Amino acid sequence: MLRLRRLRNNENIRSLVRETRVCKDDLVYPVFVCEGQNVKNPVDSMPEIYQYSIDAFDEELDRICRAGIKAILIFGIPDHKDECGSGAYDENGITQRAVRHIKEKCPDMIVIADVCLCEYTSHGHCGLIHNGEILNDETLPLLAKMAVSLAKAGADIIAPSDMMDGHTRVIRQALDDNGYKNTLIMGYSAKFASGYYSPFRDAAHSSPSFGDRKTYQMDPANGREALRECEADIEEGADIIMVKPGLAYLDIVKAASDRYDYPLAIYNVSGEYSMVKAAAMNGWIDEKRIVMENMMAMKRAGAKIIITYHALMVAKWLDEETL
Ligand code: PBG
Ligand code: ZN
Repeated sequence: MLRLRRLRNNENIRSLVRETRVCKDDLVYPVFVCEGQNVKNPVDSMPEIYQYSIDAFDEELDRICRAGIKAILIFGIPDHKDECGSGAYDENGITQRAVRHIKEKCPDMIVIADVCLCEYTSHGHCGLIHNGEILNDETLPLLAKMAVSLAKAGADIIAPSDMMDGHTRVIRQALDDNGYKNTLIMGYSAKFASGYYSPFRDAAHSSPSFGDRKTYQMDPANGREALRECEADIEEGADIIMVKPGLAYLDIVKAASDRYDYPLAIYNVSGEYSMVKAAAMNGWIDEKRIVMENMMAMKRAGAKIIITYHALMVAKWLDEETL
């Protein structure tokens, strides 16, 4: 008789044959930095996530370092917005200042900078607009300028999330031309027009003031096209590719990991976080079990890097396991 249960006899056997492991090295923690002094604003739809002013961020940075997390993804929230998102590529913009500050305090922390205009534009779209159309080619130089200014501020990895065609090539070229040959690019390669981003848009004040993002972000129905997006990013010079959102798109993670020999990241986005937190706060699920199971599922599907708002808790739970 085939006795598969033998492999489950006890925890030591189970751990001997365990195929997938989550570790701290895999985690990226997204953070929000805003203007002002001594600010620590809770994000209502994301329990335990805050917007920090740069000075107040030190205590959070300390927590992140002590937890053993080695990479953060930074989102700046500017006070001033305009039509062309000029705060995005201002050398003294909120994100540039925050990156400089963090790299000064904590030089070994891997700082990943999101590159997109939506937090900085008055209309909340990820590109320039003319007659209601989101312009592709006209947006590219601004993204390149933003990427260079963030690399100059000290960002280790540039992560373009705007979904404009050709952006990765233009950004790679601009980084190289300005002496940032060693700055990595992590493409938000397959980024879907998803309802799962809404808590993030509360946190980053980046909702579009009209329309939606469906002319640039992908149709959730399209798995094959997602692979073409990954291919385009690789071809244009991305070092790391990404699928976003995470849990509802594990088929694409699996396909991308089977197909490409590039480090693969998955973004376990804000809505996924909020759903788990809400259910946990109601006592309907066991937060630790569910979160760790989700982390495992994302790795099992083939992701190496997990960008998650749960990162601090996951790090804590991993410590408990090794005690
Ligand atoms: C900016 C950006 C978004 C997210 C990451 N970068 C929002 C969007 O595209 O509307 C979403 C992240 C999350 O939901 O956690 N373009
Ligand atoms: Zn955007």
